[in-house]
Amino acid sequence: MSDNPRSSIHGQWSSRWVFVLAATGSAVGLGNIWKFPYIAGENGGGAFVLVYLLCIVVVGLPVMIAEIMLGRRGRQSPINTMKVLSREEGRSPLWQLLGWLGVLAGFLILSYYSVIAGWAINYVVEMASGTFSGTSAGQVQTVFDELLADPLKLTMWHTLFIIATMVVVARGVRGGLEKAVMFLMPALFVILIILLAYAMNNGAFMEGLAFLFTPDFSAITGKGVLIAMGHAFFTLSLGMGAIMIYGSYMRSQDSIARTAIMIVVADTMVALVAGMAIFPIVFANGLEPGAGPGLVFQTLPLAFGQMSGGLFFGTLFFILLCFAAWSSSISLIEPAVTWLVENRNIKRVTASIVCGVATWGLGMGTVLSFNLWAEVKLFDMTFFDLLDFLTANIMLPLGGLLIAIFAGWAMSHKSKENEMATRHVFAFNGWNFLLRYVTPLAVMVVFLQSTGLLAKMTG
Ligand code: PHE
Repeated sequence: MSDNPRSSIHGQWSSRWVFVLAATGSAVGLGNIWKFPYIAGENGGGAFVLVYLLCIVVVGLPVMIAEIMLGRRGRQSPINTMKVLSREEGRSPLWQLLGWLGVLAGFLILSYYSVIAGWAINYVVEMASGTFSGTSAGQVQTVFDELLADPLKLTMWHTLFIIATMVVVARGVRGGLEKAVMFLMPALFVILIILLAYAMNNGAFMEGLAFLFTPDFSAITGKGVLIAMGHAFFTLSLGMGAIMIYGSYMRSQDSIARTAIMIVVADTMVALVAGMAIFPIVFANGLEPGAGPGLVFQTLPLAFGQMSGGLFFGTLFFILLCFAAWSSSISLIEPAVTWLVENRNIKRVTASIVCGVATWGLGMGTVLSFNLWAEVKLFDMTFFDLLDFLTANIMLPLGGLLIAIFAGWAMSHKSKENEMATRHVFAFNGWNFLLRYVTPLAVMVVFLQSTGLLAKMTG
């Protein structure tokens, strides 16, 4: 048990399992089912997946443990946690900037995350109304294109999703959602397994597996490696304070490392199963693996449209995807809301409304980037592309790097030992080593190589 006397004014999880569920709810989301398959497809498959898995182990897991630990030790919003901990460790108050970076990243991510979640809501309706029964690849494509071309529809679903998110946040994250997550997550997994079975029987299964798991290193670029690492952070909700704030509600007697491993394993399994279900369908129907953000929305409806009971399973799948997105989105904005409550002395409800309105407005940029502003580009990226790139590939890894440096170097061994309160000295030392040397080095190398600087430095 940790020696930490602090407690959070925002409350505490009622058991260890509630923390596991909430954190898994945060981690498992659009990142696993929507983003992972399409970026794996765009970046050549196998080699990308390998780099991503490597990043999960070498960077993701150590940072996950560190982020939970910092959160539990500070027991406040990430900004104030970094303030207290840096003071306690006799370090510069500038470490607070790590908290600010996270709050900003959370805002930016939620603004577009909500628009994509809106697509999922739209697909619940399309699925349930039989749009895809016996459909062809061309028709599925048309439905998707028409959705993106319709700013009003996109805005409507985006608005609905932001409201749903802010309602939960306003009532406190430990309210209803943690209980809902308890059976929604397993249900989502069961449907993914059903999809996997369908893909095995009706898809080009071997081709799909080969694409995902045979590394062809000529297919991956420096930028691909950066995207793989960025995704390791994104999918585990790391580097922006979401896991830190959830850690701040964790009970002092629970094991951080064991819990973190469970979350990481669950999240990775969901992504891999999603990939294994999607790519066989892609290849069996002559679709393009590099189709981009529409990939899941262009492949799965095709499978559901053809399988028996597809109307039911398809509708259920998209409902569950919405819930998975929902349990992630609340953790994106929780750091900002808790900070407002702590420092501006306003009620949770008011803080939620303020944050909701701000992200909603920003999200309109993403809505328009798919239609009216589709040609408005900076560095050859649309508004959505730019936000996605900036947050997932720059801000989250940077946040994770700073977390690793703080927990690895700035914090005393004693404080760490006390907070981790583990008897497994060997595991503790292994984690500490990864955090101090391997994680920061890996992140920096990936940053450098993706800018081409590494090549210049090494001649
Ligand atoms: N991990 C979530 C997903 O995979 C997204 C997320 C990122 C949530 C960062 C919180 C913080 O969908």
